[in-house]
Amino acid sequence: MTRKSNSSRAPVSRSGRFAADPSAEVAAFSESISFDWRLWRHDILGSCAHARMLAKIGILSRRECAAIVRGLQLIAREIAAGRFQWKSELEDVHMNIEAELTRRVPAGAKLHTGRSRNDQVALDVRLWLRDEISALVVEIQQLQRSLVSLASRYPSVLIPGYTHLQRAQPVFFAHHLLAYVEMLQRDCERLADCLGRVNICPLGSGAIAGSTLPLDREEVARLLGFVDSRGRPRLTQNSMDAVSDRDFVVEFAAAAALIAVHLSRLSEDIILWASTEFSFISIADSYTTGSSLMPQKKNPDIAELTRGKSSRVIGNLVSLLTLLKGLPMTYNRDLQEDKERLFDSADTVRSCLRLMSAMLDHSAVQVARCRGAASDPLLLATDLADYLVGKGMPFRNAHHAVGAVVALAEKKHQPLNRVSLQEFQSVSSFFSKDVHQVFDLDRAMLRRTAIGSPGTREVLARLRYWDRALR
Ligand code: ARG
Repeated sequence: MTRKSNSSRAPVSRSGRFAADPSAEVAAFSESISFDWRLWRHDILGSCAHARMLAKIGILSRRECAAIVRGLQLIAREIAAGRFQWKSELEDVHMNIEAELTRRVPAGAKLHTGRSRNDQVALDVRLWLRDEISALVVEIQQLQRSLVSLASRYPSVLIPGYTHLQRAQPVFFAHHLLAYVEMLQRDCERLADCLGRVNICPLGSGAIAGSTLPLDREEVARLLGFVDSRGRPRLTQNSMDAVSDRDFVVEFAAAAALIAVHLSRLSEDIILWASTEFSFISIADSYTTGSSLMPQKKNPDIAELTRGKSSRVIGNLVSLLTLLKGLPMTYNRDLQEDKERLFDSADTVRSCLRLMSAMLDHSAVQVARCRGAASDPLLLATDLADYLVGKGMPFRNAHHAVGAVVALAEKKHQPLNRVSLQEFQSVSSFFSKDVHQVFDLDRAMLRRTAIGSPGTREVLARLRYWDRALR
């Protein structure tokens, strides 16, 4: 944040009505400039559009409008350069900018015509979120690319797939990674859906009940890009709803929470894979941390922090829902509390996506370890049941027969693929001399041909699909 001062000038919102300034404690309690300064770019964008509209309807002269826009642009440059002095006694970003503009440009006193901070803040947050969503989608796609790229480096590596964290069936490592690519794609779709409801212009709703002035809301919406695919302006349709609606913030927070949850699951997989017990992957030194005590340690802290940070993103969603619950119509100052939660969710998810992507770019698969784990013949017990189904046995019976063979192998301390033909046939006469082919992993993976399955051709096709889609 840029510089802040504490001079004792009364805020514009109090001039006239109030005999005394708020106490320092009240001012400190109610200010939001310490966090909503981040909305400055969008506040200025909105003000410029509002000024142009006021000029169009004859409330500002061309000359006044030009002076206001020029003044706002100058302020924008100073803020960007860190040379603007934020004043906490002016409460928030809206009043800081307006007061400074009016100090410099007399016509600035006309800027707030037909506008309230209530529709202004709703506008600013929508504009901010629009940009944030686009930026977040870019970060998600970057992580998707990192996942696809890691998968593409090891397209033929197999690992056990797990259910209940117990070895289940063999899958390509790439298939496991691509599962996250699919999840992240749904996250992008959710954000796009959310964007549809964010991209609606509330300006012109005033404090609660619009204005007696002939505001051209459609003009403002067009100027700010609040338009549908055919260029038609998209406007909120109820002034009371418009100033108190924060549904779109909740929707974004919910989408962010789900992204965080997805990232926490990916983190957990990575933490397991990087453990000595699994050793399926190794993470580059620069993306791990050491222990202050144990010299041998190399910890996957990025993944652990990402897993941990999901808790605050979930917390932010719950905070926002709680904030809105039972609020009477319309604007209430409670709503000021939405911003820190919103900013935190956006910032947290963005940094987690970025770090996770970089960490994957600096990770390698331990091919030999994966091969060792995937060669466990028990992973093909289900394939063995399918083999019996192929011989005409009902699946339930096949399941039972293979269970008996597994028990027999266990009793003899023998791997499943070492059970002899006679032993197989002692359990069921449906087993014949081709039974040992079932344990050929390459053959087994080629036989998985259904869409979405971890079959050799299926996985390669999906890898190609994502490689192209994310280009
Ligand atoms: N800082 C306020 C917020 O974030 C801006 C709107 C204030 N409106 C008001 N009537 N006090 O909600």
